[in-house]
Amino acid sequence: MCGIIGYTGNENSVPILVEGLRALEYRGYDSAGISVQEDKIITVKTKGRLDDLAKKLEEHTDLSSGCGIGHTRWATHGEPSDRNSHPHRGKHLSMVHNGIIENYAEIADMLKKIGYVLESETDTEIAAKLIDSFYDECHDPLKAIFSATEIIRGSYAFAIIFEDIPHKIYAIRKDNPLIVASSENGGFIASDIPAILKYTRTYFRIDENVVAELDGANIDFYSSSRNKIAQPIETVDWDIEQAQKGGFPHFMVKEINDEPSAVRKTVSAYQQDDLPHFGIEKIDSDFICKFKSINIIACGTAMHAGLVGKYVIEKFARVPVNVDVASEFRYRDPILSSDDLVILVSQSGETADTLAALRLSKEAGAYTLAIVNVVGSSIAREADSVIYTLAGPEISVASTKAYSVQCAVVYMFALRLALARNKISVEQARKLCVSLQTSVPDAITNVIKFGSKIRSVSKKYINAEHIFFIGRGVDSYLGTEGSLKLKEISYIHCEAYAAGELKHGTISLISEGTPVVAITTQSNVCEKTISGIREVKARGAVVLSICTRSIAEEYNIPCDDMIVIPDTEIDDIDNVLDPFACATALQLLAYHVSELKGLDVDKPRNLAKSVTVE
Ligand code: G6P
Repeated sequence: MCGIIGYTGNENSVPILVEGLRALEYRGYDSAGISVQEDKIITVKTKGRLDDLAKKLEEHTDLSSGCGIGHTRWATHGEPSDRNSHPHRGKHLSMVHNGIIENYAEIADMLKKIGYVLESETDTEIAAKLIDSFYDECHDPLKAIFSATEIIRGSYAFAIIFEDIPHKIYAIRKDNPLIVASSENGGFIASDIPAILKYTRTYFRIDENVVAELDGANIDFYSSSRNKIAQPIETVDWDIEQAQKGGFPHFMVKEINDEPSAVRKTVSAYQQDDLPHFGIEKIDSDFICKFKSINIIACGTAMHAGLVGKYVIEKFARVPVNVDVASEFRYRDPILSSDDLVILVSQSGETADTLAALRLSKEAGAYTLAIVNVVGSSIAREADSVIYTLAGPEISVASTKAYSVQCAVVYMFALRLALARNKISVEQARKLCVSLQTSVPDAITNVIKFGSKIRSVSKKYINAEHIFFIGRGVDSYLGTEGSLKLKEISYIHCEAYAAGELKHGTISLISEGTPVVAITTQSNVCEKTISGIREVKARGAVVLSICTRSIAEEYNIPCDDMIVIPDTEIDDIDNVLDPFACATALQLLAYHVSELKGLDVDKPRNLAKSVTVE
């Protein structure tokens, strides 16, 4: 979503702000702007990309200031336009904002009554002018900010500069990430780590309802009673190279290439003696056996990893699992009690709906376990327990390696639960655990190696208007993720169906030349899917089969193209590990269709990496 950067120090803030915003570009945005303090505040902002902002800044070559704030906006209130771009002004201040102010209409009325004229359609301008109205009375920045946040309802991360307080930036947050950091260059504020990584590896994640005051490299934190307080210092546990393309044309394909090592690293971290071990005291056998059911709640790709979790937990541990999108779960009055385990899956750990689902589950007395990639994120901090996925930073909006490691963790969790419930032998669990560290990364590597074959198949799809994905069992879950991946970056209408549902409606959409991607990695249901393939072929569909080598050899799949993935078999358990390599093949298919169409693979239109608003 929107990105925030702020800098105060001895250097010219303008290039630092633009560069910081570039490091946050991946979050998704449609306009950008900066405000800097000279003898007064100067704001330059524009609809469009950062290159448009850079062009506009060329008209201000003399702009040089040691203190400023910057923003990339992902439109919520009001269309993307110069006027609606951040920063927004009050008489005394300029402010950028991530989040949504829910009671903005009410505040707008209040402001109009006291003479404020609104220049944009944004909720941010209203928050800026509300703080401004308090500052107008008291000329005390802390008092003004806290008085305003007492009135504001919603989620926010604010960075503010005041015209008559040179060199200082103020910040506060609620339900939106915001970090501050200092180095010998000065003080920084940012919505995400990549923006500051060039300068420092240590940072503070501001607690809610705490104001950070940056004066050059000096940072103070204030509670709402305006007493100075301390905030814990945190250290980034990954390198800047990991947040760079490393010679690949796009982050997405770089991140797909990271998958084998990310899966290996994650699984290795959560095993002891080749058996699942999370090192979380609370998650002992007695404790995890007490849950009668499990809810896995997440959004987007993380929710699709949850579906794979349902498959594997039910298969091995024999505990019923419900998977729900967080935005539905939170409003459907879910039936929860202390007998329930709620697993929240999130790459960013900041997704607004998932965070709300977590809070609701806790209130209802359920035990919450987060599977999160970003250390110290809100979901990680608020859940009762957290298991970190070790994917490293994921920059591309289309999630790939995070999905693979989320799946790896749910597999390990399923094995842990199955062992605790005596549903699997130690020997079998060990075999699976070893395979997750060895054969699975190897199978993914194999798929990546024949990427050129996937690319040549992808050429067929670049002009498609609709593509359908079918499969059964866990293959239908893989289809759901494959379909999401392809639609989000290729802008082709894609839909996934359980193959058995074809006859109940979807088949009416199949006509001469309709592309269908059929996934068959599971031998127990592949004959059924093959019947579905015959049915769509009979109606003229062009079928791409994605199947395991053993299924390709055993069955005569009627298809036009085939992507064969290696079997990740382990003795007596068929196909259970094949979803990993299949997911990678689907990701590569989506990637190549997008890059062959010449689209902006890493920053698809209208989408954001981290959805911190409802
Ligand atoms: C956005 C991203 C997706 C992601 C989803 C959930 O839609 O574009 O890639 O799967 O949010 O995000 P989370 O950070 O909670 O996994």
